[in-house]
Amino acid sequence: MIRVLFVCLGNICRSPSAEAVFRDLVKIRRLETKIQTDSAGTGAWHVGNPPDERAQLVGQTRGYRMSDLRARQAAPEDFEAFDYILAMDNSNLANLERMKPVSGKAKLFRMLDFGDTGEEEVPDPYYGELEDYDHVFDLLEPAAEALLDHICKTDLADQAE
Ligand code: 4NP
Repeated sequence: MIRVLFVCLGNICRSPSAEAVFRDLVKIRRLETKIQTDSAGTGAWHVGNPPDERAQLVGQTRGYRMSDLRARQAAPEDFEAFDYILAMDNSNLANLERMKPVSGKAKLFRMLDFGDTGEEEVPDPYYGELEDYDHVFDLLEPAAEALLDHICKTDLADQAE
């Protein structure tokens, strides 16, 4: 089993959106028995909360269901439990690098290291408008596709479809 964790600041906007997009692709490619997903925030303000309503609304218009997701805080143990950890922006990445135990096995990337979006970071939409949430999904969709291709090639080579 390959475990993939998406991380942002609050775990109510970008990382649950990333998880929703990615798990949809996993389902479409019939890889649910091979790949598990989760998301977390570096901050604790929204622990236990469902995704931001704006993220849910914009996600819904694209066919993503995310109302079942609940926010939690990222922890050093995540580097043992997960194979991949994807940071949404450079600040999330720096916080995760500081948290990473020396023994941690997880490979740490920025989400937009995958896909040809021409961007480095998924911008924080929390203080923005619905169009900012739309932009988040525009970035996440190609990145999620490229990430899944990478995992299929790197970790599931004999099962790639
Ligand atoms: P996220 O967005 O990191 O994409 O979930 C944010 C959500 C909440 C806050 C900041 C960013 N906040 O400051 O509460």
